[in-house]
Amino acid sequence: MDAAYKKVNGNHGPVAETEEPVTGRKRRGSMYLEEETDNKTEVISCIFSLNEEVGALAKALRLFEDKGINLTHIESRPSRMNQDQFEFFISVDSTCSQALDEVIDGLRTQISGHVHELSRNKEKDTVPWFPNDIQDLDRFANQILSYGSELEADHPGFTDPVYRARRKEFADIAYNYRHGQIIPRVEYTEAERMTWGKVFKELKTLYPTHACREHNRVFPLLEKYCGYRPDNIPQLEDVSRFLQSCTGFRLRPVAGLLSSRDFLAGLAFRVFHSTQYIRHSSKPTYTPEPDICHELLGHVPLFADSSFAQFSQEIGLASLGAPDEYIEKLATVYWFTVEFGLCKQGSEIKAYGAGLLSSFGELQYCLTDQPKLQPFDPDKTSLQKYPITEYQPVYFVAESFEDAKEKVRRFAATIPRPFTVRYNPYTQSIEVLDSTQQLRNLADSINSEMGKLCEALRKTGVKAREI
Ligand SMILES: [Fe+2]
Repeated sequence: MDAAYKKVNGNHGPVAETEEPVTGRKRRGSMYLEEETDNKTEVISCIFSLNEEVGALAKALRLFEDKGINLTHIESRPSRMNQDQFEFFISVDSTCSQALDEVIDGLRTQISGHVHELSRNKEKDTVPWFPNDIQDLDRFANQILSYGSELEADHPGFTDPVYRARRKEFADIAYNYRHGQIIPRVEYTEAERMTWGKVFKELKTLYPTHACREHNRVFPLLEKYCGYRPDNIPQLEDVSRFLQSCTGFRLRPVAGLLSSRDFLAGLAFRVFHSTQYIRHSSKPTYTPEPDICHELLGHVPLFADSSFAQFSQEIGLASLGAPDEYIEKLATVYWFTVEFGLCKQGSEIKAYGAGLLSSFGELQYCLTDQPKLQPFDPDKTSLQKYPITEYQPVYFVAESFEDAKEKVRRFAATIPRPFTVRYNPYTQSIEVLDSTQQLRNLADSINSEMGKLCEALRKTGVKAREI
């Protein structure tokens, strides 16, 4: 589930305490994460939401007071997701972690406050942890901010116990999934296939006129090789294998909402965290969150395109170890490109964002003269505010994926990080280019590739300026 859909709620996963021996990272009641270090000044932070009513904050603060917890930082803002709520960001000293557990329970049970994120260490001048190896992405499986089986009260499936049980099945599959495993195949029900069929047939009528050429080039291949049909919901494993053969991108099931940082980190490894469940059958044209229609019809075709794959990975690489404020900017860039991007194609403008390609209504709307179009420019795009529950009033138009990639690369260079990263596809790991030896290895690699390029240019007669 990608971070573009930031559903604010108090959802949480299984409550057993687990400890990962390799990392020493503890997970207590799935409510927050704590990096264990010897540093006694570590802080723990969390965000919780409260309904806007008299005395709500006072009641919440009393819980902290009763447990003797001293807040080292607190700030509030109106909730962007629920206009009746306020969000509060607080930090406490890590020595309070045990008592904080009890406060969080109290917030949820006594005040109906929704605790939806507690961050890792936010010490000043430290580089946030990021995965080095593709297997490190397994850590995200139990680091989700909300569990996919918990639904908001206004969700179309909220009062449907069968749907809710089904959602738990999907969430459990993803929760237990680990890198290298085959993504479990799912036998979709007749009702689920019918929902898929409606969405599939409707959208397919728009693709020839509204989708970018890359999407239209790949879609027939997905029909041929991955079982894209109105009466069949493709299996993530088949689609993931197809993508790997095209661009090295792969899918991985996700049990719930990931933080922007974690979601973007997956892209650095060409890993896309994907939902596997489908929207509720009562509203086949509406979903308040990403579902398999969104992933398979919107995202997947583009990840099979090499330029788009590189562009997506560039955003992911830029996010590794970036300060929080830049993660937010990169998540916004992601929103206006991978989710809601438009691009020039000849004299026309077409859609390439997954949020558009999976929405019959917005795919039509985005190419009318109603929304405002602006050229894609990460410096400006990254600051643009956006609604998440209605059609976008503003879209950004990329000249091409290559051009967008170069712009993201230049933007990434402005991110204050004391190092440069590079993905090594042979070892499926991130190389931090901060030593002479690392730079020498990179130079050798480029030298070898340049040699091949020169040889190929000579043999084909193609001039360098032609490519
Ligand atoms: Fe998405």
